[in-house]
Amino acid sequence: MTKPVANDPSALTRLLNSDEFKFTENFGRKTQSLVFDSRTIKALYEFLVKYKIDYVDYPISSGKESVVFKAQLKGRPIALKIYKMSTLKFQNIRIYIDGDYRFAKERISRSKFVYVWARKEFSNLQSLTEAGVRCPVPIAFHKNLLAMSFIGTKQRAAPQIKDAVFDASAVYREVSEMMRNTYQKAGIVHADLSEYNILYYRKRSYFIDVAQGVTVQHPSADIFLKRDISNITQFFIKKGVDCSTEDLYRYIKED
Ligand SMILES: Nc1ncnc2c1ncn2[C@@H]1O[C@H](COP(=O)(O)OP(=O)(O)OP(=O)(O)O)[C@@H](O)[C@H]1O
Ligand SMILES: [Mg+2]
Repeated sequence: MTKPVANDPSALTRLLNSDEFKFTENFGRKTQSLVFDSRTIKALYEFLVKYKIDYVDYPISSGKESVVFKAQLKGRPIALKIYKMSTLKFQNIRIYIDGDYRFAKERISRSKFVYVWARKEFSNLQSLTEAGVRCPVPIAFHKNLLAMSFIGTKQRAAPQIKDAVFDASAVYREVSEMMRNTYQKAGIVHADLSEYNILYYRKRSYFIDVAQGVTVQHPSADIFLKRDISNITQFFIKKGVDCSTEDLYRYIKED
């Protein structure tokens, strides 16, 4: 058994007070309430040095399993996702790792599975990008951190489609096509697709949050696909679109 990592708020304070770590005032002020463990703080520091991140700005979102920061790299905004070592549970995510041939040969230790999760999201973003499915472009990963392109304006991150205003039929068509390309061209099922994990920016949809995405050969791929389809059709039916799970399933799978 590995020792659980204790939360160490003083590590963040130490980092913030060190001369080497560059961050904006926003970062210091808004992160005081977020508690990171010392392994994460160390990883963050290593990451900033290795990839020469200009600075870390404010947290865009702080959820149960991750915190996403806006940061800057070579003058461009990026999103930096930090998976929480303490709340991400191996039992909850192993069904998305076991059965995925990309990870079949790996012995995944309980203390490092979060690192695999970050790498998996990176790899899925890469496959989606190569297949022409709009999503953040992956930049780098290190331990439990992932850097990707930032979707949004200088002022703020793009909204999730649940909060956006759009032409529902057109966006449904677009999302359906992205789901089809994710399946057929990238060979992946998102497995957590819903109105929460699609951003809407400049009249275009972007798939995000793809760590749990599995290859289409995964034994549960079809179950995950049907769940994604059900979430998406339910959302668009509420928006007044005439669509059905059967039609969408057929459209995604047909040659
Ligand atoms: N590349 C990005 N550009 C802009 N905003 C982003 C980006 N990635 C994530 N976000 C913002 O951060 C939020 C959370 O990201 P994501 O969905 O990937 O994490 P999550 O796993 O759902 O986190 P949790 O489940 O812990 O809330 C998104 O809903 C979005 O608002
Ligand atoms: Mg999400």
